[in-house]
Amino acid sequence: MKDLTPENAMLDPIEVASVDEIRSLQLDRMKWSLRHAYDNVPMYKQRFDEAGVHPDDLHTLEDLAKFPFTYKEDLRANYPFGLFAVPRDEIVRIHASSGTTGKPTVVGYTRNDIDMWANMVARSMRASGTKPGDIVHIAYGYGLFTGGLGAHYGAERLGCSVVPVSGGMTERQVTLLEDFKPTTIMVTPSYMLNILEGYQKAGIDPKDCSLEVGIFGAEPWTNSMREEVESAFDMHAVDIYGLSEILGPGVANECVETKDGLHIWEDHFYPEIIDPETGDVLPDGELGELVFTTITKEGLPMIRYRTRDLSRLLPGTARSMRRMEKITGRSDDMIILRGVNVFPTQVEEQVLAIPDLAPYFQIELTRNGRMDAMTVFAEAASGAASEEARDKSAKILGKKIKDIIGVSAKVTVEAPGGVERSQGKARRVIDNRPKA
Ligand code: DLL
Repeated sequence: MKDLTPENAMLDPIEVASVDEIRSLQLDRMKWSLRHAYDNVPMYKQRFDEAGVHPDDLHTLEDLAKFPFTYKEDLRANYPFGLFAVPRDEIVRIHASSGTTGKPTVVGYTRNDIDMWANMVARSMRASGTKPGDIVHIAYGYGLFTGGLGAHYGAERLGCSVVPVSGGMTERQVTLLEDFKPTTIMVTPSYMLNILEGYQKAGIDPKDCSLEVGIFGAEPWTNSMREEVESAFDMHAVDIYGLSEILGPGVANECVETKDGLHIWEDHFYPEIIDPETGDVLPDGELGELVFTTITKEGLPMIRYRTRDLSRLLPGTARSMRRMEKITGRSDDMIILRGVNVFPTQVEEQVLAIPDLAPYFQIELTRNGRMDAMTVFAEAASGAASEEARDKSAKILGKKIKDIIGVSAKVTVEAPGGVERSQGKARRVIDNRPKA
């Protein structure tokens, strides 16, 4: 794989500033953001007043812990525009999450917000090893989802030639990759596996393709998946994180030279890790729920937003800003099976460790009487598709899940092509338990 480390001179000065300088900038910006939210969004005024706190009470960054949390339900309750902090006609873009139940969550951006977003994605892409002048293939979905347009503006800002393919039509993705010869692809990791399959179907060796780096995010993925994709395409795979409520893609990104977790762009987003049960702030290094406060956003300031994503904060390495460890999963996706917590990423690791299995899987949850049961649907690799081989792989996977994760799961290994393919974010868990 090519060394894609960016030159220091290409970085924003704040990326390599001292921690003191970053903290001082954050404090100034946080004061502004709390004041902006309090003065312009009735919900924040009411919440702060109820909690007996005022923006003037923030003297240090740690004082943020005195302020109340914001939840996804708050966006729903104020649907569609109730949390916007500027007059509606200053909002130049609206995105929304599909939302599996109820109303979607709606987010809005001012012109300055869009500008900052483009800068953060450009910074993320540079950290990934993309350079001005590169051709960038974007297969994140365009539309209300923030992935496609978020990536697009960042790639243009960096000075790349952008190919806005969006998701779907895998055969065409392969044709365009082969014909346009991009060096960067931006796509969900699960859809990248579909593209890999597209290469196999077309009889083209993916190692021969022009790609040097994939910037993968929008869903949890493991280091085992990184190895799988890096070796299949002979390219770097780096992690990009973000969420619509805070920005979209570009809140944090891995550096291609270290791949040791994602640097949070702390000059715009202030992270905390909390105990999800008590809400207490945990020290850096401990695993808990990520909470973000936007410190420069105009359209939709978010104060202590509960992401539900589980991670830990680590000191900076390739950059001065803190890192977040690769996300283990969302607390909503955590499966509790006879008292044991299981994340789909743990199953992913075990599936990828078995060469006779293809890298696709889904988990089904059912209930027998009072007991929850988990069935893992995996898929045979093309060279191991006989019934005998599938039985053998199922036994191996079942044993690994039992020995390493610590739960008993039924495992079914389908014939090649038997597991649902992702078009964007993969649907890992199908919950068929009766609703309470
Ligand atoms: O998924 C934004 C995005 C687009 C990020 C493209 C990266 C690339 P939402 O649809 O609002 O926004 O979903 C946000 O997706 O809270 C996480 O649970 C999950 N997620 C996003 N990036 C990662 C990642 C976009 N790198 C939710 N690793 C977040 C794990 C991720 N989970």
